[in-house]
Amino acid sequence: MGKFKYNQERIFRHIVSFRQNSSIRHLGGRPFRHPLIASGICPLFVAFVLTLPTDKTLYLYFLMKRIIITGATSGIGRETALQYISDGWTVGVTGRRAELLKRLEVLAPGRVYTKVMDICREDAADRLRELIGEMGGMDVYLHCAGIGFRNPSLDAKTELDTARTNTEGFIRMVTAAFDHLKRQGTGGHIAVISSIAGTKGLGAAPAYSATKRFQNTYIDALDQLSRAQRLGITFTDIRPGFVDTDLLKQGHYPMLMNPADVARRIFHAVGSRKRVAVIDGRYRLLVAIWRLIPRLLWERMPVGIDRKKGAKTQP
Ligand SMILES: NC(=O)c1ccc[n+]([C@@H]2O[C@H](COP(=O)([O-])OP(=O)(O)OC[C@H]3O[C@@H](n4cnc5c(N)ncnc54)[C@H](OP(=O)(O)O)[C@@H]3O)[C@@H](O)[C@H]2O)c1
Repeated sequence: MGKFKYNQERIFRHIVSFRQNSSIRHLGGRPFRHPLIASGICPLFVAFVLTLPTDKTLYLYFLMKRIIITGATSGIGRETALQYISDGWTVGVTGRRAELLKRLEVLAPGRVYTKVMDICREDAADRLRELIGEMGGMDVYLHCAGIGFRNPSLDAKTELDTARTNTEGFIRMVTAAFDHLKRQGTGGHIAVISSIAGTKGLGAAPAYSATKRFQNTYIDALDQLSRAQRLGITFTDIRPGFVDTDLLKQGHYPMLMNPADVARRIFHAVGSRKRVAVIDGRYRLLVAIWRLIPRLLWERMPVGIDRKKGAKTQP
């Protein structure tokens, strides 16, 4: 109830400032009030807004400014969180490293919410729900948490750890977000950072490329489900190429992108409700070429693999 009252007051302040800013135009030095507003349309609008059923509805219709980013302690997730913070959003950030979450919190106290969670643990979905409650709702869920390794020796533990985080953890979090938006009943947006690695199987990183393909397909499936159930949820599958983050700390990679630049493109892709966003243009071309390569030929290409030294890595 307290949160509802707080949100109503905040929304009222937004509307009043909108009215002040939009109704007065300086014409020849004299303030000019638009006749529609002067005739009372605006007070009626305010009255309408204040009678709407829940604060969640109001936020979705008028503000749409609460995002939760899973995996925001470093790399792409952190840079994207900074982007949303600087744009005035209320941002929920999660990850396993509490001290790195605190560093984000101090940037905008009261507007950045943190929750330590391991997406591989069963309690992660509950922790996401707690965070949503603390933020008074969620409009956009961005799934960034993920791991990836070069694994030319096909170490089974590495493969299984990757599968656990990028499929089991992914499903746990995305289904919890889907379930929340379904209950909320006001649409919303689920975006995930997959990778161009899902385009084809990569011998250099089998589990990584397979789990990224899994993520692509899973989002396709949820989009179909949401449409069939008329939930109005928007989906964005973001597929970056090589980005200069901890994930690629070993080795040298071509066409390496700056994480802050990638975050700006993610911000834009989510804002413009793109269904699939390959980042950047060079990788769009690469992916298009990869798709044209027949399987018989692809299987014989040592993509990212130095035949003498072993695999190079995964994007
Ligand atoms: N770098 C690239 O070239 C590239 C390209 C395409 C796609 N991607 C994808 O982008 C996403 C982010 O990767 P990045 O490059 O930014 O790497 P990163 O700097 O290593 O970030 C990975 C993030 O995921 C979180 N995370 C990992 N395992 C987790 C777990 N079990 N529970 C909760 N959080 C977990 C990490 O937080 P904690 O360690 O604090 O838990 C961290 O915040 C990944 O899904 C990756 O596959 C990366």
